[in-house]
Amino acid sequence: MADYKDKVRKLLAEKDSPPLCCLHSFGCQQNVSDGEKILGMLCEMGYGVTDDINSADLIIYNTCAVRENAELKIYGLIGNLKHLKENNTELIIGVCGCMAQQEQVVEKIRKTYKQVDLIFGTFAVQELPRLLYEVLTERKTAVDITEYSGVISEEIQPVRSGNIKASVPIMYGCNNFCSYCIVPYVRGRERSREPEAVLNEVRELAAAGYKEIMLLGQNVNSYGKNLDTPMTFAELLRRINEIDGDFKVRFMSPHPKDATKELIDAIIECDKVCKHMHLPLQSGSDRILEAMNRRYTAEKYMSIVDYARSRIPDFSFSTDIIVGFPNETEEDFAATLEIMRRVKYDNIFSFIYSKRTGTKAALMEDKTSDEDKSRRMRELLELQREISTEHFKRFVGRTLTVLFDAETKNEGIYSGKSDEFIIVEAKADPSVIGQRKQVKITKAFNWALQGEIIN
Ligand code: SAH
Ligand code: SF4
Ligand code: F3S
Repeated sequence: MADYKDKVRKLLAEKDSPPLCCLHSFGCQQNVSDGEKILGMLCEMGYGVTDDINSADLIIYNTCAVRENAELKIYGLIGNLKHLKENNTELIIGVCGCMAQQEQVVEKIRKTYKQVDLIFGTFAVQELPRLLYEVLTERKTAVDITEYSGVISEEIQPVRSGNIKASVPIMYGCNNFCSYCIVPYVRGRERSREPEAVLNEVRELAAAGYKEIMLLGQNVNSYGKNLDTPMTFAELLRRINEIDGDFKVRFMSPHPKDATKELIDAIIECDKVCKHMHLPLQSGSDRILEAMNRRYTAEKYMSIVDYARSRIPDFSFSTDIIVGFPNETEEDFAATLEIMRRVKYDNIFSFIYSKRTGTKAALMEDKTSDEDKSRRMRELLELQREISTEHFKRFVGRTLTVLFDAETKNEGIYSGKSDEFIIVEAKADPSVIGQRKQVKITKAFNWALQGEIIN
């Protein structure tokens, strides 16, 4: 990789002015984190960074394939680049990420979107310097969707998007093959980073003053199973908790089937770990959970929630829910609403089922109508609104710890997330950004809380 980085750097140095790159990452935080590594390599090779596609010499779309509309959006964006390429034949256009890992997508891009010069999948991030060198010297389309083994090279220094919060991938891939999901096909089997590599990265981030570290993996709590010396995710959390620094830790996403008591105990006992879990439910119906290959029942899911709440009554949960999985009945859907009422999520991310070619669910005949699916989605959103309106009230009069990271539309009002992962707004001055403050909550909305900073 280093050789090709040097080669590209030399080629770019010959240009009249330093070239600019524009990278857009779509999809989940794992993809965003890959994007930070891609940007790291581009900057090392001599590219400047721009957000404006019109002034870029290299445009890369780092894509997501999780739902059909995510893919359609990308095809639209690539299509729009055709005229840019016509006006500037030197422009290099790249497509990478989860969509690009699929052969049929690569075929379609090569056939229909000839303006694309560079295509590489999720395994080939570190191959970018070589691929770029091929495009620059041979002026042909460079493609690499090989399923390389191992984790992304530890040598790549990411260029992070902010200096308050940082993401740290701890594992790549997924072994679960939930029947609706494309991720295992585009990100391969689970492989974990060595604990020392993770701990060193967290140490560096803490020393650099980052206030929040998000540990990432498609199934973060199956971390460590494939290491030479296996380590559980709970153990990793405890080791991270021992690192000095004024930072807190979050993680995304745990899988309920691997959520052990040991894990909940670690979250509760580690003072740096936020008492919040994003625990994807997907459905509250055991019949649908089985068809989804989720490998837990609604009761097993509730036992995790109940155990966490038996230790911390306010332990906060958020979740992902799929509405309208093939042949979901009114009864199945009602079971999902029932779990929502029991857990009282602070936040949910809900998706109408999207058929993904290559997955098992794509072969299922689906008798549920689109109208029913949309109506159920509206009902679910309505219920969640009622739940959060009611549930957020529990915080009024209490003091929460909030990490401020943005100014709102209203001048002098700043916002951040509480440890429970709830948006909190308060009056402050700009120096509050990047600071963790104690906020006395005065008002609850259904999407956020409002309060006064007390120190
Ligand atoms: N690995 C994570 C989630 C990855 S995808 C996990 O298991 O929690 C993020 C979310 O997208 C999933 O939790 C699921 O709710 C949703 N999703 C995945 N595939 C989908 C599909 N085919 N249709 C609709 N939603 C889907
Ligand atoms: Fe997809 Fe399931 Fe793996 Fe999550 S756990 S990435 S939903 S297959
Ligand atoms: Fe999308 Fe790939 Fe993430 S499919 S959700 S970007 S792992």
